[in-house]
Amino acid sequence: MPEETNSIDYIMEKASGPHFSGLRVSGGTASGKTTVCDMIIQQLHDHRVVLVNQDSFYRGLNTEELKRVHEYNFDHPDAFDTEQLLECVEKLKSGQSVQVPIYDFKQHRRSSDSFRQVNASDVIILEGILVFHDQRVRNLMNMKIFVDTDADVRLARRIRRDTVERGRDVNSVLEQYAKFVKPAFDDFVLPSKKYADVIIPRGGDNHVAIDLIVQHIRTKLGEHDLCKIYPNVYVIQSTFQI
Ligand code: ADP
Ligand code: C5P
Repeated sequence: MPEETNSIDYIMEKASGPHFSGLRVSGGTASGKTTVCDMIIQQLHDHRVVLVNQDSFYRGLNTEELKRVHEYNFDHPDAFDTEQLLECVEKLKSGQSVQVPIYDFKQHRRSSDSFRQVNASDVIILEGILVFHDQRVRNLMNMKIFVDTDADVRLARRIRRDTVERGRDVNSVLEQYAKFVKPAFDDFVLPSKKYADVIIPRGGDNHVAIDLIVQHIRTKLGEHDLCKIYPNVYVIQSTFQI
């Protein structure tokens, strides 16, 4: 293999392509997707980067579904309003600001009167268990990252999180995990790992991988600035995408 095709810069450039509009971050439940995204955003410290969570686009449950919530599969692709997610990201990409729903994991529905205002920005980070599943979502942005954390670590974190933050008891977490979460991980999440450009083992503990991604986005944002300052001289791209 020629030396240059082995370099980190070459691999990152191939992963994101010449256009850079954003990252999609996938991985199993409690793998550390949100943690990794927060670390990237914190380190970048740049207002041109925004985070969109697939969880915000969970469909609200109707009264009947709420009565039998333990039979509801939140890990199936149909649990999300993917059309609305697509519309939201397309708007952000075209320079419009959007109102993202706020999802309540205790009530299993969206807030009816409040939204999170997300302004149009240069880099969109989209995170969620199934952001590689739907081909249209997969094609929204170019760099795809899979956060790869062992299942036992994820289950332990999920039990702690769901009991402390999401108002669940341990038995219901374990039941839901065995009945829906694990089968859906095997059927939908794991098979979509093949679409990843970059795999981050150990999630937020992997500082080297996170630094590399941050560095790459910084480089791309820098190129974008140069395009704006010297539109006729420094011809990289007329539109900026990751
Ligand atoms: P995801 O977005 O993939 O569901 P989160 O980033 O929300 O995962 O993490 C799930 C839970 O695990 C959270 O309570 C978080 O604080 C915890 N967590 C995430 N990464 C780590 C880590 N590296 N070490 C310890 N706890 C972690
Ligand atoms: O943050 P995380 O990626 O873990 O969020 C996805 C998980 O949230 C899914 O595995 C799903 O089982 C869970 N979920 C839930 N209750 C809801 C909505 C989602 O337990 N009302």
